[in-house]
Amino acid sequence: MQNRIIAETGTSAYGGHCAALRFSGKRISVLPGLPEIGSVFSEEVEKLNSGFPMLGKTMLYSSPMKSIEEQILELKKERGAIIIAHNYQVDEVQAIADFTGDSLELSRKAAQLTEEVIVFCGVHFMAETAAILSPEKTILIPDPHAGCPMADMITAEKVREIKAEHPGAKVVCYVNSSAEVKAESDICCTSSNAVDVVKSLGNVEVIFVPDRNLGAFVAERLGKKLILYNGFCPTHERIRDVDVLKLMEKHPDAPVLAHPECSEPVRNLADELLSTGQMCRRAKESTHKEFIIATELGINYRLRTENPGKKFYPVNPDRAVCPNMKKITLEKILWSLQDMKHRVIVPPEIADRAAGAIQRMLAV
Ligand code: 13P
Ligand code: SF4
Repeated sequence: MQNRIIAETGTSAYGGHCAALRFSGKRISVLPGLPEIGSVFSEEVEKLNSGFPMLGKTMLYSSPMKSIEEQILELKKERGAIIIAHNYQVDEVQAIADFTGDSLELSRKAAQLTEEVIVFCGVHFMAETAAILSPEKTILIPDPHAGCPMADMITAEKVREIKAEHPGAKVVCYVNSSAEVKAESDICCTSSNAVDVVKSLGNVEVIFVPDRNLGAFVAERLGKKLILYNGFCPTHERIRDVDVLKLMEKHPDAPVLAHPECSEPVRNLADELLSTGQMCRRAKESTHKEFIIATELGINYRLRTENPGKKFYPVNPDRAVCPNMKKITLEKILWSLQDMKHRVIVPPEIADRAAGAIQRMLAV
């Protein structure tokens, strides 16, 4: 089968049909739609034949129809890879992942994994954190453009400026930040451990970057004044208190679970402020049968599937969608495994300093 072009047809993540040509196991061309094998395909093969004269006599074979999920699972095994996904990923990505979790759970998991290849379905700073913790592993992000606008709101230079204005203060940096910013920080935190991390520093002045909302939540919890930076999550800012109130009126027995990245008016209406992982646990343990959920829409996949007897009412489901989290699709996961792309590499001089801040967080 070495010198033969194989034609495969399958179903795309969007439910449509697609077809691909492979040579020696490598995808060499993808055709959208369902082409007539024998017409469009043979034309395509002819084109390829002229481009690959070394093939001599090429033959076209049609392999049995495989779903995109089957192809991913097959290739994952072949590559010795594991797929991990954040709780905000689209439903089908969460469904195919070996592990789903919040930022802290994903960092811990990535550090413990024995697999050589990790396909990280989340935004760039998350994959970068995994790469910093496991420099010997291959960390792949299916779409390198899946960034985080909050992380882009602060630079290492800005952190140095703030530190110069507050000599002696410790810098606590939310993991939603670049490796360069982490390298300038004393310790990292996520939404699930931010209170404990700041508490662990004792009676010292604290600069908290970049999320003003998570920082204000920590300050309130600890009754401590923090030096806050003015960063925020645009997705969580779109969740409105008026819409939380409407749902509260409609479902008076449902507690409001909100993410601490939400704005102050929304935080003030919440019964509990929780990371996405904490929300999943609370929904399972609670005796309540319905909940109002104020965070990114993707979390509802886990809430629904893990609690079939309970009801979840997302606030602003049309607006509380993080476009970057949604950039990862099943097709991109497949291509990522096929081409071993896009590898996340952090320069060692930055990675070493950033690792210190992340390790100190993991030790809290
Ligand atoms: P957690 O999943 O850690 O709660 O974080 C939410 C988030 O916004 C990640 O980008
Ligand atoms: Fe960044 Fe907000 Fe998207 Fe999380 S939800 S990745 S904080 S933009």
